[in-house]
Amino acid sequence: MDNQNRFRLLIVDDKPEIHQMMRRYFENTSHDLVFADRGQQALDLLSQTRVSLMLLDLKMPGMDGLAVLEAARQIQPGLRVIMLTAHGGISDAVAAMKLGALDFFEKSVDPELLRSKVNQVHEMWLLEQENRQLRGRLDKRFCFPDLVGTSPPMLKLKDMIARIAPTDTSVLIQGESGTGKELVARAIHHHSQRTRGPFCPVDCAAINETVVESELFGHAKGAFTGADQNTQGLFRSADTGTLFLDEVGELSLSMQAKLLRTLQERVVRPVGTTRAIPVDIRILAATNKNLLVAVSRGEFRQDLYYRLSTITLEAPPLRQIGDDILLLAGYLIERFSRDEGLAPRSFNAPAQTALKHHDWPGNVRELENVVRGALVLSTGEVIGPEDLSIPTVSLSNTPGNLDGHPTTMTDHEVQIIRNILETTAGNRREAAKVLGISEATLYRRIKQYNLA
Ligand SMILES: Nc1ncnc2c1ncn2[C@@H]1O[C@H](COP(=O)(O)OP(=O)(O)OP(=O)(O)O)[C@@H](O)[C@H]1O
Ligand SMILES: [Mg+2]
Repeated sequence: MDNQNRFRLLIVDDKPEIHQMMRRYFENTSHDLVFADRGQQALDLLSQTRVSLMLLDLKMPGMDGLAVLEAARQIQPGLRVIMLTAHGGISDAVAAMKLGALDFFEKSVDPELLRSKVNQVHEMWLLEQENRQLRGRLDKRFCFPDLVGTSPPMLKLKDMIARIAPTDTSVLIQGESGTGKELVARAIHHHSQRTRGPFCPVDCAAINETVVESELFGHAKGAFTGADQNTQGLFRSADTGTLFLDEVGELSLSMQAKLLRTLQERVVRPVGTTRAIPVDIRILAATNKNLLVAVSRGEFRQDLYYRLSTITLEAPPLRQIGDDILLLAGYLIERFSRDEGLAPRSFNAPAQTALKHHDWPGNVRELENVVRGALVLSTGEVIGPEDLSIPTVSLSNTPGNLDGHPTTMTDHEVQIIRNILETTAGNRREAAKVLGISEATLYRRIKQYNLA
């Protein structure tokens, strides 16, 4: 790669030993390292050369880091900056973030963390480069006939898929269960340059912990009792294609460590061998957990999270896609009746109202079941609300019922809020984010339903 196309890292610090340290941290990368020991020198450099990421010391003689940050962004508006400081001060961190810094680290930070962060920025940068090249070639938007929906969240999702599919970036797909995460992963694979290669899904929640390592990486004959032949493992089966790590949040910490190593080195080591076999795969991952919460609780490695989440996509829940519910229901009834060789059927207006008012905790998967059921229950070609096995909307405002199963929308809401507050350990800001509502709304609900 010529110098023009390399990821250029500008390190600004008045201390030569920090320059040395950074040189060591990044010596095994292909990054082009440039150094400055004063703010003004950094600004001069920025006005002459394009920099991909600046690591900027906060306290320096002369111009301090915040002033450099502000001036630097005048020169290169899109410049990415990570601040470094000897001792973290919250107010400085806040000021830096306001000025557009990406992150703020103490110099004593674990080098791995800093490297993970830089690596994440590097991947974003690569993606931009690729996108720039692709934009010229991409005259028409991809369409995804399998992915039904025209609501703003669905259009946003499709647009993102179209943009990231042709690249080789890792993508983390987040969404509640049944929202179509696997469908999204398949669409990405299908529209990628790897479409002729295999799409290999791995259900991280379902594979048995004791054999997960050999399932993923393969094993040599005789590696353990019962290993009577060599196996290649899922990673190698996905070679030249896409590996889809479903429910990635369920991996144990030890498996996370092994996965991270594999992703970093791009080689697999089958159990019972010392051989390192190179693999060429793209990683897509999905989760219905909030992985950031898992990271904050020490249940998910932060460095692995950064690796997997270069790009994050949200598969929206049904209750957020408005009339798409009807579009999906229509699409499904048509598909299922065709499969069964039946005449086309449609939903009458009351049935449509019922569909729109249900809050679909099981999302599209639940809708599929309801539509299948309706096909069986309905006698004519028109489906009424009586054919839909969903609870009718209750206007009751009293949460909870005798057997503890939610039946009304309010019950569902209470249960969802309770669950989220539990998984965020009572952190309301985090909970509001996960729920997609404002903190004030969450606060009102908590009061209204006595959840405090
Ligand atoms: N936008 C959509 N258009 C058409 N079908 C959809 C859409 N979203 C989901 N589906 C269908 O809904 C079902 C569930 O989707 P999928 O298995 O991809 O969800 P998921 O998010 O992986 O769920 P889980 O968390 O339960 O694994 C599938 O049969 C899928 O084809
Ligand atoms: Mg799934």
